[in-house]
Amino acid sequence: MQPFQRRNDMILQETWRTGHPTRIHRLSRSTASVTDTPLLVANRTHMTFTIAIDGPAAAGKGTVGRRLAARFGYAHLDTGLLYRATGRRMLEGLDAVEAARSLRRTDLDAPGLRTPEVGQAASRVAAIPDVRQALIDFQRAFASRSGGAVLDGRDIGTVICPEAEVKLYVTATDEVRAGRRHSELVAAGEDITYDEVLQDLRQRDARDSARAAAPLKPAGDAVVLDTSQLTIEQAVAAAIAQVLRVQGG
Ligand code: C5P
Repeated sequence: MQPFQRRNDMILQETWRTGHPTRIHRLSRSTASVTDTPLLVANRTHMTFTIAIDGPAAAGKGTVGRRLAARFGYAHLDTGLLYRATGRRMLEGLDAVEAARSLRRTDLDAPGLRTPEVGQAASRVAAIPDVRQALIDFQRAFASRSGGAVLDGRDIGTVICPEAEVKLYVTATDEVRAGRRHSELVAAGEDITYDEVLQDLRQRDARDSARAAAPLKPAGDAVVLDTSQLTIEQAVAAAIAQVLRVQGG
């Protein structure tokens, strides 16, 4: 397997150029959860519709993104995985920029990408402009795929897809986010306290917001969705309602 950047199939770029839907589907499966594209949508060649979801760590972006993708039959990309995979390779000793430039699809399936240690490494490499630059083309190609796309991250509505049809900024209080992430990590077998999770999130959010390159912030035209008091179902329903509002014109 060749590195992304050195082959024609550099993640999704080739797919974008050739418009080969099977390839998009296969590649995107390995990067994030992807739902099948319904025939009606897939048959409309070059139909694009981008939903950009940003927000701080553990705010529910991934859940909302996956559920929106399932509801509308769009592909979903968790862009945090790109930074986590890069951060993980840096922890293994690689130069961060080289790690991003030579990222392979299989790196996104590596075990342990969700740990707080890798999250911190991701947040550190994400502050390096050349790392971000190396990952832009893939994300933009994914967003432009025929059939619709949902991307979640920190800079999707501001930098990656400023033209996205729908922009959501999903957030929640630090304590609610830490509680949710702590439960997830414990369920995954991690030995970690609530306070450690809270500190991890706050540290990453502070670094992600303060960096010069594509800092975490809501796009001017984003709809803010505060999920602190919402169940998953309520948050997803609010997000779906916003997409339908836009699609209804
Ligand atoms: O979303 P997740 O928590 O997995 O992201 C890990 C880290 O990757 C974030 O703390 C952030 O530093 C970085 N990231 C980013 N831009 C994105 C997605 C993630 O800077 N679009």
